[in-house]
Amino acid sequence: MCSRCSEEQREIEERKRKLEEIGNNIGSHLKRIGVPPKYLGCSFENFKTTRFNQKNAKICKEYALRRVGPNGPEAARPANSLFLYGSYGTGKTHLAAAIARELLLQDNDLLFTSVPGLLLEIRRAFHSGATDSEEFHCRKYSSCDFLILDDLGVEKTTEWARQTLDYIIYQRDSHLKPTVVTSNLSLDEIAEKIDGRISSRLAGMARVLHFEGPDYRTNERSQ
Ligand SMILES: Nc1ncnc2c1ncn2[C@@H]1O[C@H](COP(=O)(O)OP(=O)(O)OP(=O)(O)O)[C@@H](O)[C@H]1O
Ligand SMILES: [Mg+2]
Repeated sequence: MCSRCSEEQREIEERKRKLEEIGNNIGSHLKRIGVPPKYLGCSFENFKTTRFNQKNAKICKEYALRRVGPNGPEAARPANSLFLYGSYGTGKTHLAAAIARELLLQDNDLLFTSVPGLLLEIRRAFHSGATDSEEFHCRKYSSCDFLILDDLGVEKTTEWARQTLDYIIYQRDSHLKPTVVTSNLSLDEIAEKIDGRISSRLAGMARVLHFEGPDYRTNERSQ
């Protein structure tokens, strides 16, 4: 075997080992990228489909499977993001965590955070004694290949929060970085209650999926 072929072979085996390691320790990898404990077990397999969510679940699964890397077939296209919105308990965060799982299993560079958590983390960086600067955290969330932003719209909308979110979404949009956003608010409501620019950017960059149907939390408990 020539030296180039053996180098290629070594790289293939190295990648195989890496993917096996991730698969064997998927829970700790999901935790590392920010998925909350409650959602560590969420996958497409354990998402129960109903007439309300079937189409959205299929789109989310296809979205994750088509993106085998930051340069995957559809990564660098406009509208390469998803906006999942609708009423509570309809499985938005479950599906966002399932997307995170699939992307991680392919060793993608990915972060998962709630919007209030993201703002808190950046705000903490203002405090003296904080190890990383505000800029460091903003850059971290702007530059990762994939970002999942859970629960946009529940944060207190101060001018600072608006600007910070606008900056991160602007950066991601202009660098064609895929982003998955979940919210209880529609894009019109985001424009009205949070910021028109954020809503407009999301409309341009994301495929919009509306979630409706019963609240799974109370529904399951009562069965
Ligand atoms: N179709 C489903 N199959 C299995 N589990 C589900 C399904 N829908 C929701 N769940 C579970 O129900 C709980 C609530 O769902 P989830 O947190 O995803 O709702 P949500 O739409 O994000 O709600 P909110 O708007 O309040 O954030 C989670 O534990 C989730 O795993
Ligand atoms: Mg949620």
